[in-house]
Amino acid sequence: MRFKFITRQMTPLGMAGFGLGTLYVIYIAYAWVCTREQLKTLTLEVEENDDHQFVDFGETKPDHITFDAAIEQYEADFKEIFKHAPDDKKFLIYDCRYHCGGWGDRIKGMVTAYLLSILSNRTFGIQHSYPCGLSNYLAPNLINWQIEDSRLTSPSVHTIDYMNDHIEIQGRIQHTNFIEYKHDVIYLNVNQDWTDQLKKNRIARNVLSPLQKKTYSDIFRIVYFGLFKYSDVLRNKIKDFVSEYVGYNKLACFHARIDHPGNERYETTDFGSVWSLLRRFNLTKRYKIFVASDNTEIKMIASALFGNNYIARYWNVGHVDEASSCEDLLVTLTEHSILMRCDVLVLTASGFSYQAAHFRQTSRNLFCFFRAHGVYPCKRELIKYLYGWPCGMKDQFCY
Ligand SMILES: *[C@@H]1O[C@H](CO)[C@@H](O)[C@H](O)[C@H]1NC(C)=O
Ligand SMILES: *[C@@H]1O[C@H](CO)[C@@H](O)[C@H](O)[C@H]1NC(C)=O
Ligand SMILES: [Mg+2]
Repeated sequence: MRFKFITRQMTPLGMAGFGLGTLYVIYIAYAWVCTREQLKTLTLEVEENDDHQFVDFGETKPDHITFDAAIEQYEADFKEIFKHAPDDKKFLIYDCRYHCGGWGDRIKGMVTAYLLSILSNRTFGIQHSYPCGLSNYLAPNLINWQIEDSRLTSPSVHTIDYMNDHIEIQGRIQHTNFIEYKHDVIYLNVNQDWTDQLKKNRIARNVLSPLQKKTYSDIFRIVYFGLFKYSDVLRNKIKDFVSEYVGYNKLACFHARIDHPGNERYETTDFGSVWSLLRRFNLTKRYKIFVASDNTEIKMIASALFGNNYIARYWNVGHVDEASSCEDLLVTLTEHSILMRCDVLVLTASGFSYQAAHFRQTSRNLFCFFRAHGVYPCKRELIKYLYGWPCGMKDQFCY
C-alpha cells in the first residue's frame, strides 16, 4: 500500500517562489502551499501507480455507523473548552437574519464568532433565521446560544460586517484586543476562518489555550459539535437516508460544487479521474456511491455509471443562501451530515466540502480534486491551504 500525501510535497511560503508564477500566494502568509509543479508531479504518480489510490478496510464498520459514538466521546473530551463565564450583559451575536453565505460560510462564521465571543468575554448567541430557524435542525448543545430577545434590548447596539473581508481584518486580528469592543450588543456578520490569526492573538494564549494546540480542522470540529446537536427532525432524516439507501454498506461520496452559469468552478466533464476512483470502490461491492452537487448533470452521470450502486437522490441543493424554505435548509444539513459520515470522500473547492472533511475524524480515503491535476489523497488539516482561498475565480491552482 503506497499512500502519498500532499504533505510531503509542501513547501513553506517563500520557497514557493521556486514554482512557476505562484505570486498570488502572498495572500496567505504563514500558510503552506504546494506549487503547480508539485501538483503536476503528484498527479503523474497517481496515474502511474494505479493501485495505491485507495485503502479498502475490508470488514471494518462503515463510518456512518461509528460516527455518532465518536462524536459523543469527542464531546466528552472537550466539554471543558466550553466552560466560560462571560459577561452576561454583553453579547456577541452571529447574525444570519438575512443573506449570510452558503452553509460552509456559515460554519466558518459561527465558529469565528464563537471564538471572538470568548476573546471579548461576551455571551455568545446565534440569530439564524434565513431561510429558516436553525434550531429546528441544530439545537444548542454545550452552551445555550439562543438568547431571548428580552436580553438584547440595550440601546447600545452595533453591527460589525466582516463578510468577505479576506485581507484587511486578518492582518489586524492578532493585535486586536477584543475586550475593548464598547457596545453591549454586537451583531457580527462574518464568513471567514481566522483560526490561524486568532491563535496568535495575545489574549487567545490564555483563554483559548486548550484549542491553540489543535489544527484548524479540529478546532472546527470541536467547536461545531460543542455548539450543535441534531434535532430529532435532522437525526431522523439522516437515519432514514441510511436505512433506506445505505444499510451496512460503506459510502463513497463525491461533492461536486459547480456554481452558477458564467461562474463555473468546473465543467461537468472535468471529473474523469473522480469517476475512475469511485469505480474501484463500486467494484468491491461493499460500497454505495453518493454524490452531492448543485448540478443535476453530475448526478445523471453518476447514475449512468454506477447503476444500482448509485444512491439516486435528486435533492435540489442549490445554495442555501438562495433558498426559500425550511425544507431547503434541512436538505442542505442532511447532505452535509451524510458527507461527513462517508468512508470515502472526494472534495472540490467549496466550503461545504471542506467542512464535511474537517468533521470526519480522519484523512483516510479523503481525496482532493483539482481541475488541472485530477484527484489525489489529501489531509484534512491542509485543505484550506491546498485550495488556497482567496484566489482568482478561474485560477487552476485553486480549483
Ligand atoms: C469577564 O466577565 C466576567 C463577568 O462580568 C468578569 O468577572 C471577568 O473578570 C471578565 N473577564 C475579563 C478578562 O474581562
Ligand atoms: C458499478 O457496480 C454496478 C453493480 O455491480 C454495475 O452495474 C456498474 O456497471 C458498475 N459501474 C462501474 C462504472 O463499474
Ligand atoms: Mg460560498
